Amino acid sequence: MFPLLRPRRLRNGETIRRMVRETSLSPDDFIYPLFVTYGRNVRKEIASMPGCFQESVDRIVKHAKEVYSLGIPSVILFGIPEEKDETGSGAYDPHGVVQKAIRALKEKVPGLYVITDVCMCEYTSHGHCGVIVNGDVKNDPTLELLAREAVSHAEAGADMVAPSDMMDGRVEAIRTALDDSGFHEVPIMSYAAKYASAFYGPFRDAAESTPQFGDRRSYQMDPANRREARKEVMLDLDEGADIVMVKPAMTYLDIISDVKERCDLPVAAYNVSGEYSMVKAAAKLGWIDEERVMMEVLTSIKRAGADLILTYFAKDAAKVLNR
Ligand code: PBG
Repeated sequence: MFPLLRPRRLRNGETIRRMVRETSLSPDDFIYPLFVTYGRNVRKEIASMPGCFQESVDRIVKHAKEVYSLGIPSVILFGIPEEKDETGSGAYDPHGVVQKAIRALKEKVPGLYVITDVCMCEYTSHGHCGVIVNGDVKNDPTLELLAREAVSHAEAGADMVAPSDMMDGRVEAIRTALDDSGFHEVPIMSYAAKYASAFYGPFRDAAESTPQFGDRRSYQMDPANRREARKEVMLDLDEGADIVMVKPAMTYLDIISDVKERCDLPVAAYNVSGEYSMVKAAAKLGWIDEERVMMEVLTSIKRAGADLILTYFAKDAAKVLNR
């Protein structure tokens, strides 16, 4: 006890702090989200997500080169198709925006690890993550569409697929479909514990995927539930997930920590759009130090147990880490 024990001894100077630091970030930890749209030479900034863009395939390639040159190994692709319909057919169109972007990226930035978001909401006219019957998202018919989407991404050359829809049984359905098509080596990163969160607001502007009626609470998790996250993760593990994700991240650090403790798969966390936009907005107002808050947020997600962080801050943080 004091005065014998003085924890401040190990905080006395940057060198000793560096030596005893428990958590360190690296650009290797980051997965950078990119929004692919149709057309050529399109680069439209997303109003609620400063520094993030909807980009056509040609611009995505340029952008991905920059991302890769910063030491970030991976991107995750979201598609904004030219046309949306009831069943989201753009999701599994071999000439869809994401499929085109995958081919271009694998050709032009060969070292880059390309992950794709597998979900229907960006492609359906109603903005829900699956097939609608009588005003409700029907689980089992949706599985078939998700499986088709995943296989079509794999055919285009995706290195990994990441289902974000929260339908029951989708990891197994996707695993089976991938295997049946010869894609045994394509891993699945499942959005295993994905909550029905208001922090997705800016993303829905970016992906133009706001539900046209109702909300996503009949398939995404209730933010009040902690044990249920373990159940979701265990189910995905049994169904063959290779990496499990918790989403959002900042307000779900307890969930990240639980998942890390109970499951030996790599754990990913999604530092979502609203978490990014809040920091950007407060920084713009001069209320916080953007760089320090960004690094603190990312460090806390890693400290909680995330091995991988999907984040719109990836480039900014990599620049700080590379200095
Ligand atoms: C698609 C999907 C969403 C996000 C990732 N994949 C939106 C949603 O579920 O409404 C959110 C990402 C973010 O907010 O940054 N289902």
